Amino acid sequence: MNVQIVESPAKLDTVGADFVAALIGSKPSATVLVATGQTPMGLYAELGARYRRGEIDPRSIRAIQLDEYFGLSEDDPRSLYGWMKRSFVDPLGLDPDQLVRLSGDELDPETICRRYDEAVRDAGGIDLSILGLGPNGHLGFNEPPSDADAPTRLVSLSEESIRSNGTYWGGQDRVPRQALTAGMNVLLRARNTLLVVSGAHKREILRRTVHGPVTSEVPASYLQDAANVTVLADRDAWPEDVTFN
Ligand code: F6R
Repeated sequence: MNVQIVESPAKLDTVGADFVAALIGSKPSATVLVATGQTPMGLYAELGARYRRGEIDPRSIRAIQLDEYFGLSEDDPRSLYGWMKRSFVDPLGLDPDQLVRLSGDELDPETICRRYDEAVRDAGGIDLSILGLGPNGHLGFNEPPSDADAPTRLVSLSEESIRSNGTYWGGQDRVPRQALTAGMNVLLRARNTLLVVSGAHKREILRRTVHGPVTSEVPASYLQDAANVTVLADRDAWPEDVTFN
């Protein structure tokens, strides 16, 4: 794992955007998996600003959805695709044919997941996965316990995820109880991963992610063994007693 610690959330946004811009610059047809959640929002806004200034060219990238609540209509304000569209797809001017979605209201969950895996494979796999760290160590909605080979699937949200997602939607009872998530076996195969982590409330789970035993109880800890993982954390999130070189 590469670790980069920055002074502030604002710096996390610009350094994170530098990272993504460099990747897109070196591979204009890159496939980029995109988390929602609060942490990468400033990074995406920074990318959008760079796009408007003509500093990056995302015309050939493919954007891959990470997860989605199950059973919501397309236009439900809680849809994670809707969030991804507002924060990443629209600001970067991406067209529908540049997207790999994890949805399909009319289909059963297994079919949705199988088609998603095929679409990711057909796109050539994931060049860069932009991930946030769940308060319980989840990646996407791979809730603990999730093994390294956990597939793309329908999951039930843990109590902790329902609590943390309640902050997005104005209360826990507004949080859907089931979701579809890209599997650990998809995420761990990404050629590059950028894990963005911000705030003191993430410090303990970040310690367990980078320094603890590799365990299905902290799904993010499997990133210790994955290729080309960069952990980009602000100072509040970084456990001071953990040193890295
Ligand atoms: C979002 C997602 C989640 C979040 C994680 C961190 O699509 O899948 O795994 O990345 O819960 O969320 P924030 O960034 O809000 O702390």
